[in-house]
Amino acid sequence: MKKLLFVVDPLDQFKVYKDTTFSIMREAQRRGHLIAACLPQDIQWKSGGFVMATVQQISLTGSQPGWYRVHNTMRMALKDFDAVLMRKDPPFNAEYIYATHLLEQAEREGGNVVNRPRALRDHPEKLAIMEFPLLVTPTLVTRNAASVRDFHAEHGDIILKPLDGMGGKGIFRVGKDALNLGVIIETLNKEGAETIMVQRFVPQIVDGDKRILIINGEPVPFVLARIPQGTEVRGNLAVGGKGVAQPLTPRNREIAETIGRVLAPRGLLLIGLDVMAFKKSPTRPALTSQRSSLTRWSGPHVQRTMNHCSAHSGPRRTSISTSTLGITCVRKVARSLPGHRAAAHAPQRSFTSFGRGRTSNHYD
Ligand SMILES: Nc1ncnc2c1ncn2[C@@H]1O[C@H](COP(=O)(O)OP(=O)(O)O)[C@@H](O)[C@H]1O
Ligand SMILES: [Mg+2]
Repeated sequence: MKKLLFVVDPLDQFKVYKDTTFSIMREAQRRGHLIAACLPQDIQWKSGGFVMATVQQISLTGSQPGWYRVHNTMRMALKDFDAVLMRKDPPFNAEYIYATHLLEQAEREGGNVVNRPRALRDHPEKLAIMEFPLLVTPTLVTRNAASVRDFHAEHGDIILKPLDGMGGKGIFRVGKDALNLGVIIETLNKEGAETIMVQRFVPQIVDGDKRILIINGEPVPFVLARIPQGTEVRGNLAVGGKGVAQPLTPRNREIAETIGRVLAPRGLLLIGLDVMAFKKSPTRPALTSQRSSLTRWSGPHVQRTMNHCSAHSGPRRTSISTSTLGITCVRKVARSLPGHRAAAHAPQRSFTSFGRGRTSNHYD
């Protein structure tokens, strides 16, 4: 039996039908592991001591509501868990960053933290895609209103978004008429005080924004396409997008493998990507028009899944469940546990070789 600590948002706010943390917990319990959970604010570091947390030992009941039961509350050093899974959702704010510092100290004390805290810090969700320009729809990151206007003049139809949002929060589309562009820029960049992201609008969003999960560099063979409904541009389930499970296409596998190859060795064991397909367009050079566009890399949690998402994909009905994900995650995490590592006290090295990653907690 291994002891696993999940650093999470409040458990009673989990939407278990789409939550990958829930699915990982369920699989961990099935395998007989001990499950503990805490909030980031339950973690403390007193000078001269180890990084500690007040944690709740829980079990999953298998029913709803009331999907978990608390058995025990205890204070433990993070290093004493076999694995600590950082599953806190954005915002990627100062508190999130402090949490990664405490978790990194727990690593130095010999703890085993997934995803690797430094890598979490180095890869803010939306910004991290900029490392892969060939896969990304034309994108600008700036505080500057005039630059946003120039970008709009160049592309005509754009999406503007805050850098630390999730679940579709603060996403605006501005078309050729530039209606409301000024006030949208001011609202998002807080009159120049905050950096925002602007992207060319990808019309293929009508086919859905595909969430691809990458575990230890390998893509999960099913995706969750989140399809905007009605006049909505956002596919997020949180704002009424329809979730349709689909097999991973060869092109999306290629994208996911390319990204996984780069990020897994940095300690990102669990990664969620949002990908939309590009179609050929006469106005675009062939090289880029055939690419898929990656609009967002959702880092800190493999977004909570595909539970209850069954779908029609062409003539074949495909259904996927969180258990697929949970099993794979737990297997990979288990491989990185002390029983599977040569040197339990050399976590830094074993992290690199096992390729930690970070994940989004849910499908949002
Ligand atoms: N460049 C884009 N082109 C078309 N639609 C987009 C684009 N960027 C975002 N969207 C829409 O907005 C939704 C949310 O965008 P995303 O960048 O994933 O932010 P969040 O982190 O809030 O989910 C996407 O699911 C998609 O429907
Ligand atoms: Mg998204």
